[in-house]
Amino acid sequence: MHPLRNVELKARDADPERTLAAALGHGAADQGVLQQRDTYFAAREGRLKLREERAGDAPPAATLIAYARADEATARTSAYHLVDVPDAAALTAALDASLGTVVAVEKFRRLLLWQDVRIHLDAVDGLGTWVELEAVAPAGSDLAEEHRKVAELRAVLGIGDEDVVATGYAEMLLDAGAATPRLVDLARTAMQRAYAPYSDFHVGVALRDEAGALHYGSNVENGAYPQGNCAEASAIGALVTAGGHRIREAVVMADTELIVPCGGCRQRLSEFADPDTPIHLSGPEGVRRTVTLAELLPFAFDLEEAQQ
Ligand code: THU
Repeated sequence: MHPLRNVELKARDADPERTLAAALGHGAADQGVLQQRDTYFAAREGRLKLREERAGDAPPAATLIAYARADEATARTSAYHLVDVPDAAALTAALDASLGTVVAVEKFRRLLLWQDVRIHLDAVDGLGTWVELEAVAPAGSDLAEEHRKVAELRAVLGIGDEDVVATGYAEMLLDAGAATPRLVDLARTAMQRAYAPYSDFHVGVALRDEAGALHYGSNVENGAYPQGNCAEASAIGALVTAGGHRIREAVVMADTELIVPCGGCRQRLSEFADPDTPIHLSGPEGVRRTVTLAELLPFAFDLEEAQQ
């Protein structure tokens, strides 16, 4: 089977009424409004989401979708699984209890069709209004025709460069802090599982990676003292082992007034995080103070820069 390929574009839409009128004026056919909820669970590999969809008076439909990370999706097309779900509420409860929910994206989507291009006018909970263009390419297409159609529609709908975005809705919600409570829960679990009989200082760290997956780790000590490792090192090891590449957000937790990562762990974090990546310094009850990596580690050593 060949993977489906799209030419797609997502942009902020300050005036959905005007966009709708322009699309209809250009001959697009209105397919009505869909109510969609995508719930992302904390899968061990790839992504796992439940899509619930309601169209008009039709009974709601639900599909469980397991798929590879974005950076592997093109190479591993066999990694898609679609499962019809007859009882979405029960499955959501079961997956939330066993894996945990990372984020839910809820939206109303007006679907229009113009020459095989799907036009989505989306109103997304917490994110405002958006327009998406999706031209599905037939097998063997060189994509030129799809690019041409998207460009034509883009001009007709008046979508400017400044409104176009590269990120998905789930990622936008995650970057706005949607997974922070779940990261706090994971850091607490890691802290409670810490093996720290020598210092009796229990630390838990939880990380969100670039694909939205969450990882966590505990400090693990050793009777031969230098062999112990910090919770940051354990969590980073879990992230790398699971196929993650970057740290987008971190929770560091200990039951002390304000836990701050040790010097070595600031360097460890800086290998995978950006200067503006938020690090939530937390106690068992939750976040106490949020700082950026740059605040923790100014003038950081960077091997690539050093070798220039
Ligand atoms: N520890 C961490 O796990 N992370 C830090 O950033 C600070 C220190 C651990 C290492 C050791 O097991 C214990 O806390 C006391 O130093």
